[in-house]
Amino acid sequence: MRILSGIQPSGVLHIGNYFGMMRPAIALQADGEALYFIADYHALTSVRDPDTLRENSRRIALDFLACGLDPERATVFRHSDVPQVTELAWILSTVAPMGLLERATSYKDKLARGMAATVGLFNYPVLMASDILIYDSDIVPVGKDQKQHIEITRDLAVKMNETFGEIFKLPEARIQAATETVPGIDGQKMSKSYGNNIDIFGDEKETRKRVMSVVTDSTPVEATKNPDKSTIFMLYSLVASQDEVADMRERFLEGGTGYADFKKGLFEKLWEYFAPMRKRREEILKDKSYIDDALAHGAKRANEIADQVMQRVRRAVGLR
Ligand code: ADP
Ligand code: TRP
Repeated sequence: MRILSGIQPSGVLHIGNYFGMMRPAIALQADGEALYFIADYHALTSVRDPDTLRENSRRIALDFLACGLDPERATVFRHSDVPQVTELAWILSTVAPMGLLERATSYKDKLARGMAATVGLFNYPVLMASDILIYDSDIVPVGKDQKQHIEITRDLAVKMNETFGEIFKLPEARIQAATETVPGIDGQKMSKSYGNNIDIFGDEKETRKRVMSVVTDSTPVEATKNPDKSTIFMLYSLVASQDEVADMRERFLEGGTGYADFKKGLFEKLWEYFAPMRKRREEILKDKSYIDDALAHGAKRANEIADQVMQRVRRAVGLR
């Protein structure tokens, strides 16, 4: 079984990324051949500064490795170290119906957030389909917002197979039900572009400040509170043990505890949860060649697979 996922180096990783995509991806390394890449070609749709893109890419690699990605088990690489994906994206684009891409909600969302309407942004799902198909991927662990992109990938694979014969496997999205969407400090989906994020490796003071500013309703201290509508409770459920979660639920229902106390509890658990990852991150930073070695090794393996698949594709469509 081949597992593949990517993450854009367009900013700093937050706990929504962690619980929605990184944690499931890390867990899956034990179940098959995992390939995880830093999607720098994709990030070009929003990052315009070359130094920033290079720095972000390295930092995402560092943070992902610190969170438990094991380069001995998983293939970790940069998107742009496998330029063949852009060739396959072109080939896929020649069968991709305009209407299919026009229905993509992420494009419309990005325009609504003020991004420029470029061809690259519109074509993004085709490049993403290429990312997935070029490795004969079976499983794609992603957050819920990426589900439509996997559906588009399957549609394009079917179109190619119908047109040129069986070339591609149909991949499946793997979406974590329990953490479908991690809320941000304002209760909306956590996203770096909404400014409501709590970062995985933020400093202690900043992280505490973010947690203490989680938006709550105005229920008085004495009154009973609804845990199922509370962002604090939802976030706590991700980082605390079952017993601790049950205990917080009871205290919500009982009344007598204010939101500020619940937030303090949340901060403590959150800080504790990521402590081993912070430690690992420090260790990796001390080893000067660790990240580059991991990425070089990953690029080699990713190229081997991509070259094989591209040979099949080129032959099937009549290029060579
Ligand atoms: P952002 O919305 O902050 O720009 P990305 O779009 O780069 O995040 O998402 C990277 C990965 O993390 C994707 O697989 C996405 O589905 C997942 N993800 C992002 N935000 C969340 C969230 N709030 N809850 C669950 N998963 C998320
Ligand atoms: N589009 C994904 C995101 O914004 C990143 C991504 C690019 C990806 N290519 C992929 C995810 C292939 C899974 C598989 O988060």
